[in-house]
Amino acid sequence: MNPDEKKRRAAEAAMEFVTDGMLIGVGTGSTVNHFIAALAAWRGRVSGAVSSSEASSLLLKQAGIDVADLNSVGGLELYVDGADEATRHLQLIKGGGGALTREKVVAAASQRFVCIVDDSKVVDVLGRFPLPIEVIPMARSLVARQLVKLGGQPVWREGLVTDNGNIILDVHNLEILDPPALESEINQLPGVVTVGLFARRPADVLLVAGDEGVQRIDR
Ligand code: A5P
Repeated sequence: MNPDEKKRRAAEAAMEFVTDGMLIGVGTGSTVNHFIAALAAWRGRVSGAVSSSEASSLLLKQAGIDVADLNSVGGLELYVDGADEATRHLQLIKGGGGALTREKVVAAASQRFVCIVDDSKVVDVLGRFPLPIEVIPMARSLVARQLVKLGGQPVWREGLVTDNGNIILDVHNLEILDPPALESEINQLPGVVTVGLFARRPADVLLVAGDEGVQRIDR
């Protein structure tokens, strides 16, 4: 089965968590795009969505789903998003699409985070996928030097400006043995907006689509 078909199956499996009248947190990326397509068929039954990116907001609106401002709603029951890497402890690397900050905010506002991936994303140790970090532009070099001291090789994702007006450093060659500790350490660096490690608030449910079907892993 090709990877896109697996992404579609993982996304459709997440519909099991959607109930009538729900306001849903929606992530970003090619896997979530399948989820938005599945939600479109339900648009009369969900009350709307809080989106983690301008790209997803546009797709949601095109699908006829109302997009609400997080500031104007209370907490969310459900957040559905993909990941670039996931462990069986449901710790994640996210931000391959550059939307990590709003993704982390919407995840934090949600009672249940359902992460949808194809089986190529599941790893024993995070870090093979370069770790994205959103940084304010004037701190780019300062933060990069600090990341080298932590053993990584930061690469500026040139040409990309995030929805928040910042830049992304992708950190290569990290073997992340203690994800919550590294998340805290990088969070402390002046100039860092968000690190794409989702370990302190991991997913609650991981749906992994493979050739044999969709496996559900609960935290
Ligand atoms: C977006 O910034 C990311 O966190 C995505 O969730 C992640 O890159 C997964 O993307 P795909 O679903 O396109 O693989």
